[in-house]
Amino acid sequence: MKQFQPLVFSGVQPTGNLHLGNYLGAIRKFVALQDKNDCIYCVVDMHALTAQLVHEDLKEQTRSIAAAFIASGIDPKKHIVFNQSAVPGHAELAWIFNCVARIGWMNRMTQFKDKAGKDAEKASLGLYAYPSLMAADILLYRATHVPVGDDQKQHLELTRDIAQKFNLDFADHIRKSGEGVDIKVGDEPVHAYFPMVEALIDGPAPRVMSLRDGTKKMSKSDPSDLSRINLMDDADAISKKIKKAKTDPEGLPGETDGLAGRPEADNLVGIYAALADTSKADVLKEFGGQQFSAFKPALADLAVTVLAPIHAEMRRLMDATDHIDAILKDGGERARARADVTLKQVRDIVGFL
Ligand code: TRP
Repeated sequence: MKQFQPLVFSGVQPTGNLHLGNYLGAIRKFVALQDKNDCIYCVVDMHALTAQLVHEDLKEQTRSIAAAFIASGIDPKKHIVFNQSAVPGHAELAWIFNCVARIGWMNRMTQFKDKAGKDAEKASLGLYAYPSLMAADILLYRATHVPVGDDQKQHLELTRDIAQKFNLDFADHIRKSGEGVDIKVGDEPVHAYFPMVEALIDGPAPRVMSLRDGTKKMSKSDPSDLSRINLMDDADAISKKIKKAKTDPEGLPGETDGLAGRPEADNLVGIYAALADTSKADVLKEFGGQQFSAFKPALADLAVTVLAPIHAEMRRLMDATDHIDAILKDGGERARARADVTLKQVRDIVGFL
């Protein structure tokens, strides 16, 4: 029986500098997945226009995300690393999905509401349609698994809704095309063209919070650069930021219960655990009872040990843009070849001559 080939797809938007939260929450997961899976990792430069229409240097930002992928260990020969705009099929499929998705579905997207702010009338149509383009990114390759942060869960549900409606609305055409796959959605058998994607949200990825305020997520849009560790920070900058990180006056507890109500302490212990690939409980076994004056230098050393090689490789790649451009071009060609197979079938299913 025909089945969907397992395929991992994810995207990162080239807006602002990548920080520790992006690394621990996303990129490190991408790296871990590549051993056992076929993976496509995309720099979503078309999505970047929804955040800001005119960028100082979008090309440079795109390269830097690709450089971070590669410097972190993603193999662009075994897998595909490319920028979204290199494959026009993303836009073409997004249009079809714009016609599949319902306005009511889009109106429920919390990220749109957050980003559009008070005056949603002034938001761009692109920002509104963002989740439809995201669905197209994934389904253009008929990808089955998507590693993303918690904040993208709703967009993945929408992706499934779009796939489901497409599969049902075009059921007869899908059957005629001979390209469908029999799957079950809940208990219902469906002859599907698009798979029901699964989010890969679990795993050790911690929520990395701001170094200045343990209740806020580490973010590239925080005005204070001291709030985050950027992948492009050098060892001195990393150490300085950890030294200046906000803490409370108490020492470290011996057990994780003692972190309750202490967001800054919890965050620093969580970052240590993630960088060391261990649990907070284990970190506290080692550091419980110690003061931050002892813990912070250990954390800084660890952060530098993990991030310095990535930083150095990113720098090297960013200094030789020919190399990174060649990787993106090659990835784009390979992505396009795969996308074209899907698009040809989708055009046939939809009825385009
Ligand atoms: N919306 C995602 C984010 O902000 C980025 C993204 C775009 C994406 N297309 C995607 C993620 C496809 C996963 C799959 O993080």
